Amino acid sequence: MIPDTLIEKLQNTQHLVILTGAGVSAESGIATFRDTLTGLWENYEAESLASEFGFLADPALVWGWYEWRRNRVLRAKPNPAHHTIAQLAKQVEKLTLITQNVDDLHERAGSCDVLHLHGSLHQPRCLICEEPYSFPEMTSLENTGDTECRIEPPRCHLCDGPIRPGVVWFDEQLPAKAWQLAQEACKNCDLMLVIGTSGVVWPVAQLPYLVAQKDINLVQINPDITSLNAVAAYNICGKAGEVLPLLYAAAFDKA
Ligand code: APR
Repeated sequence: MIPDTLIEKLQNTQHLVILTGAGVSAESGIATFRDTLTGLWENYEAESLASEFGFLADPALVWGWYEWRRNRVLRAKPNPAHHTIAQLAKQVEKLTLITQNVDDLHERAGSCDVLHLHGSLHQPRCLICEEPYSFPEMTSLENTGDTECRIEPPRCHLCDGPIRPGVVWFDEQLPAKAWQLAQEACKNCDLMLVIGTSGVVWPVAQLPYLVAQKDINLVQINPDITSLNAVAAYNICGKAGEVLPLLYAAAFDKA
């Protein structure tokens, strides 16, 4: 299942880049953004829940939606894919971890300096003055069950503005520093693993192409076919939580 040439490349890499998407958290039980627009949320458009326009129109609805999602993340645990990525950082000379995920499962598995290109559910800020907001411990978990979806956002302690989720909404720019570091890493790496992303959301979707264009080794791990199948040097068809531990064991576990 895992080619010997890929194992060798992983053993010898000087700078490994890993780009993760929702598929990496799937085995932790975290549904993708669109998959969550079912059940309680099926009558809402993605744009009305994930835009400044939607937040201004109905702050309690939008804050409640993100609290509902954050609640699910708080109850989830990192899976073998997150843990293996954290272990890989100890084996290779340099690892840059880039994610589109807004959960903190990479960090909870032990990864550091994760470039969160789509922001984080866990780092909200004031809509007006951008002052960061800290959730009280175990905040409002009991208010985010399956029947409750409207929660008034807290207010900023500096300017009394509404607190907004720390994620990147439709039509918003990616966090500039993280985006710059991600692009630089892709231009300078010698191996890239793209794991659990459909690769359709731009501009992040362009990162694997930066790598493929330079004839750098691009590896995709995904149970499904994506547009990257055509450009990746290796396509490993399978679940991240199963493939990554096998890859790691083949490359680094001493016989
Ligand atoms: N292991 C690896 N990949 C998986 C697994 C798994 N266990 N389960 C599903 N996948 C793959 C799917 O085949 C799919 O290609 O993960 C991918 C998930 O794709 P998306 O749901 O489109 O997630 P992602 O690519 O991260 O979306 C990008 O879109 O909704 C916005 O901002 C949101 O960050 C998100 C962005």
